Amino acid sequence: MQLIFMAPKTTVSVIKADIGGIPGHAWVHPKILEYASSRLREAVKSGLIIDYYVFNVGDDMSLLMTHNKGIDNPEIHGLAWSIFKEATENYAKKFKLYGAGQDLLKDSFSGNVRGLGPQVAEMEFEERPSEPLIVFAADKTEPGAFNLPMYKIFADPFNTAGLVIDPQMHGGFRFEIIDVYEGKVYLLDAPEHIYSILGLIGTPGRYIIRRIYRRSDLTQAAVVSVERLNLIAGRYVGKDDPVAIVRAQHGLPAVGEVLEAFALPHLVEGWMRGSHTGPLMPAKFVSIDPANKIAMGPKMTRFDGPPKVGALGFQLHDGYLEGPVDLFDDPAFDFSRQVAAFITDYIRRMGPIMPHRLPPEEMEYTTLPQLLSVLKPIPVEEYERNRMKYLSEKVTATVSVTGGGSGD
Ligand code: F6R
Ligand code: MG
Ligand code: MG
Repeated sequence: MQLIFMAPKTTVSVIKADIGGIPGHAWVHPKILEYASSRLREAVKSGLIIDYYVFNVGDDMSLLMTHNKGIDNPEIHGLAWSIFKEATENYAKKFKLYGAGQDLLKDSFSGNVRGLGPQVAEMEFEERPSEPLIVFAADKTEPGAFNLPMYKIFADPFNTAGLVIDPQMHGGFRFEIIDVYEGKVYLLDAPEHIYSILGLIGTPGRYIIRRIYRRSDLTQAAVVSVERLNLIAGRYVGKDDPVAIVRAQHGLPAVGEVLEAFALPHLVEGWMRGSHTGPLMPAKFVSIDPANKIAMGPKMTRFDGPPKVGALGFQLHDGYLEGPVDLFDDPAFDFSRQVAAFITDYIRRMGPIMPHRLPPEEMEYTTLPQLLSVLKPIPVEEYERNRMKYLSEKVTATVSVTGGGSGD
């Protein structure tokens, strides 16, 4: 019998949820991050996971976990679910945080958090001799917000010099694009199919880049979470603030090529009331607490935003996470932040007018048609015939108010 030595694979899982904000939808309560960290510390002790980090961007808490159990593992998903559930019960509800438990859409867990509300990005791979890893999280936007940067990183030689220069990347990358409405997957190769790739991903609310592979050996280079809360819930319950993992260097895009794709704050959907277009600002973390493995992320303040993305860099070794390095904490990104602030100022002046406000079918708040339905328009010809009569009448536009909302 021939024995084949198989190096153990490492799985990197990022599972995130908004279980309540302070104040409003601005940030995560530090006690919730501390609670999550203590639970994950126990999970390391029990041998369930190898290492972890807890962080937030805006009002979303992410649990980054490393282990040997593969993706979609019921124990790993169960651990994340119980942390979110118990943090909701013991902290978010007790402190009456805003939107307590808002991303936990279903009560029962049956082995996997997919379809229950949290966002998931996971990748299982054999560690290379040195394994640089970048974990992204964005708030007040949707998974398709990563379409443009992922395309630039893995298909645009004007962003990624390695596509031209590095023989290992010269063969290009394979894109797995998911149609979240139809539940279908498109596999397309760059550079041959870039026009088709762009034709799809230019509609980021529907076609979302989920995984990317190096074509020469099918090494997986990236994964993006694609759960869409509104589709899960059957009604709009918020934009689905996404997470992503990217492996870098040595035949994959360099760390700097990955980050370069975020230098231009492109416009994304989300922001205030999940109903506006705004720039995705590459943001710095507020503080990092290495002893407790907690990174406190950027706050969502101006008009509940603008949408922000944070990037934490690690070196992975045998499942252990060396880091994090707050990768947008570099003066070289200050100008990008200034541009994003300028775009924020510019586009805010459009107020409720499209394209700053989203088209009705993409708005998180579905209440606009209801509000407008009380208006009683007059057929144009009838009005023109009796204009003075209509003008002399009292105008009414009474609205009856019901309920309230809570986005992300
Ligand atoms: C956007 C978001 C927030 C809220 C806004 C209003 O995704 O979460 O911008 O939509 O703060 O929230 P409610 O209606 O709950 O007062
Ligand atoms: Mg929220
Ligand atoms: Mg959020």
